[in-house]
Amino acid sequence: MSEFLEAMAFRHACKRFDTTKKIPEDQFESMLEVCRTSPSSFGMEPWRLIVVRNENLRKALKPSCWNQNQITECSELVIFTTDNDVVRSGTPYVRKMFERRGLPAEAVDIYMGVYKNYLEPIESDELLLQNWTAKQCYIACANMMTYAATLKIDSCPIEGFDREEVEAILDLDEERSVALICAFGYRVNPQSEQTRLPINQIIEYR
Ligand SMILES: Cc1cc2nc3c(=O)[nH]c(=O)nc-3n(C[C@H](O)[C@H](O)[C@H](O)COP(=O)(O)O)c2cc1C
Repeated sequence: MSEFLEAMAFRHACKRFDTTKKIPEDQFESMLEVCRTSPSSFGMEPWRLIVVRNENLRKALKPSCWNQNQITECSELVIFTTDNDVVRSGTPYVRKMFERRGLPAEAVDIYMGVYKNYLEPIESDELLLQNWTAKQCYIACANMMTYAATLKIDSCPIEGFDREEVEAILDLDEERSVALICAFGYRVNPQSEQTRLPINQIIEYR
């Protein structure tokens, strides 16, 4: 089996983490690098990660995360937040993100126009914009989880939280929102059997 498929088989939503085991710093940094190099729509990289290492802050977050044990027991707790203001069409941030590709000024203007056309219906609704930036975080998080599995590091993606409460506890500015939480560490219990639909139920060729 390829290393990638082995990692896919190793990864599961880990519910109980071994509180005595810590992810080595260099490995965690490489996981963050996987996030940093992940793809994002138009290359906007809207993710802004908060790594919660403070025990008291984790304890404060837990009740707002359906009291899930992973919040306090994992080795590294990563909160994917997004900056929704900077990615609005026409901002200096967006221009800079296109300019860094080394394109001529006219090409940057064309990109700005295409981006505006694409984003206008999304950015007109705050929730749609939050969802759009959150989608980018889900890709980065998936990459991190699969990469972590190649290092025999377990993970659990967490959507079970009250977003407004978590944002308030983190004291996030208005333009920031929480997209997703992911716990990383080492399993206590053996992995449960992977249950998945058969391939012919999810794929159709046309
Ligand atoms: C976006 C997302 C959010 C999830 N949220 C939670 C969660 O809040 N708590 C939890 O224990 N598992 C959570 N899971 C894990 C899923 O329940 C799990 O991936 C699914 O049941 C398949 O099991 P497996 O990952 O162990 O193979 C989440 C998974 C995804 C992809």
